[in-house]
Amino acid sequence: MLPSFSNSDHDLPKKSNTLELRNSTFSFIKSLFSLKNCAWIVLTILVQLLIVVFMNRASLWPSTLPAIRDNFQAPPHEKDCEFGRVYVYDLPPVLNKELIENCQDLDPWPWSSKYCSAVSNGGFGPSATGLDGIVPENLIPAWYWTEMYAAEVIYHERILSYKCRTTNLDEATAFYIPFYVGLAVGKYLWFNHTADDRDRHSLIMLNWVKDQPSWKRTNGSDHFIMLGRLTWDFRRLHDSDTEWGTSFLYMPLMKNILHLTVERSQWDELEFSVPYPTAFHPRFQSDIQQWQSYIRARKRASLFCFVGATRKSFKNDFRGLLMNYCKNESDSCRLVDCSVTHCYDGAPVILKTFLDSDFCLQPKGDGFTRRSTFDCMLFGAIPVYFWEGSFKDQYKWHLPVAAEAYSVFVDNNEVRNGTDIRSVLERYSREEFDIAEDLSHLGVNGSNRLHFKPVLDSVMVSCHHIWCLNLGGGLCYS
Ligand SMILES: *[C@@H]1O[C@H](CO)[C@@H](O)[C@H](O)[C@H]1NC(C)=O
Ligand SMILES: *[C@@H]1O[C@H](CO)[C@@H](O)[C@H](O)[C@H]1NC(C)=O
Ligand SMILES: *[C@@H]1O[C@H](CO)[C@@H](O)[C@H](O)[C@H]1NC(C)=O
Ligand SMILES: *[C@@H]1O[C@H](CO)[C@@H](O)[C@H](O)[C@H]1NC(C)=O
Ligand SMILES: *[C@@H]1O[C@H](CO)[C@@H](O)[C@H](O)[C@H]1NC(C)=O
Repeated sequence: MLPSFSNSDHDLPKKSNTLELRNSTFSFIKSLFSLKNCAWIVLTILVQLLIVVFMNRASLWPSTLPAIRDNFQAPPHEKDCEFGRVYVYDLPPVLNKELIENCQDLDPWPWSSKYCSAVSNGGFGPSATGLDGIVPENLIPAWYWTEMYAAEVIYHERILSYKCRTTNLDEATAFYIPFYVGLAVGKYLWFNHTADDRDRHSLIMLNWVKDQPSWKRTNGSDHFIMLGRLTWDFRRLHDSDTEWGTSFLYMPLMKNILHLTVERSQWDELEFSVPYPTAFHPRFQSDIQQWQSYIRARKRASLFCFVGATRKSFKNDFRGLLMNYCKNESDSCRLVDCSVTHCYDGAPVILKTFLDSDFCLQPKGDGFTRRSTFDCMLFGAIPVYFWEGSFKDQYKWHLPVAAEAYSVFVDNNEVRNGTDIRSVLERYSREEFDIAEDLSHLGVNGSNRLHFKPVLDSVMVSCHHIWCLNLGGGLCYS
């Protein structure tokens, strides 16, 4: 059993033991991302879940780590930074800055130049265009064509201006390693690159960090890193050139470092998922409020929609099944076929489709989770999942553990067996998932009632405007 630190004194964390350090680091990082501190509410969904959070906050934190909950007591003078301060390492440029500068080299398909645009504007990507009539005019400047794997760049950019950042190593509760490992490995994932190619940057980073005095104090248990890609890209098991990914997360020096990723492995207690970046990067709290009012007032013409492409190489491809189903149900389903339409991240046709639908079908993609789910929720549509892995153990800091509070689950096998998706969705009346002004309705209690678009205003907690780091609607600081 983990010891309880609830009576711990107010010592600076560096004087504590490793576990306590780990705990304080957890609390700190959690505080960066937690709903408590930010209005991440860009997603409609969140509205509701915030209330769930307030009612039942404890249940959001990983139950396997009871001791991390509310244990860390910040030093008494830390009025503004309740959870402590973060130190951002100044890494060798080859691990971040040079990757951006040489962005044309990042792409496995050099002609696409996708990465150069992806890493522009501090990871937000190019300003969005073509959103007239989809997004209120005054909000258009808050939209960018953000790439789904840009989180590590955005995160770094934002944390540099974070008010609880410290440049004094002795003052830090947590140490952030701004290594763009997803960008570094991206190019080497494909073709006949070697395992060494895939691991090179990771080894440079670990060899560098292990010599830092701040590392030696704790062996990394107060260190954290953001991984822009799905966790599966960092978990190569063998030293084989033909096996996918880098072995980064299995390198011995990684064993204490907490990692954030857009899709986590449920077997890794040191890994936490945070939403994929979306296209919306609100500048002020008022941007968020305006957006919320806008999507809440929207009259939606379609019951559900499907955005995706079939995967011809897959036998029994579930996406193909959904696509055919959607075509057949054209009265209630709106289809964007990405083998015909160019479906880049945040394409207006996709966003418009979400805006006009009550539900969006979300089969698994490369992993169990999809960026598209967050685009969908951002536009006020409700995700329909077909695999448990798409929500189970994911986004615990951002979404309610009770997935039925904000989404619908229909097992993919049942769909194959003839369960009619449309009939399932029709069981939810519009009233049930329309604005619930009465807060007493907002609990998950109440079986399959989706309180999807309730009052945001009461839960617009202290989001300090530009410190709202929008990843999929809002990793916030402060
Ligand atoms: C694979 O490796 C061979 C030999 O090193 C090289 O000639 C070839 O261009 C490589 N192919 C690709 C697709 O990188
Ligand atoms: C860090 O790891 C080394 C090698 O395993 C060990 O000797 C040392 O005691 C550890 N330090 C701390 C603070 O845990
Ligand atoms: C298409 O819809 C019709 C009428 O609703 C139904 O009878 C038929 O089985 C459906 N076909 C597919 C492939 O879903
Ligand atoms: C699908 O149908 C088969 C045959 O009727 C049945 O054995 C199986 O349990 C069903 N699976 C699900 C998930 O409903
Ligand atoms: C909902 O809450 C009420 C009172 O708190 C309780 O009696 C009831 O059993 C709950 N219903 C469900 C489905 O959890």
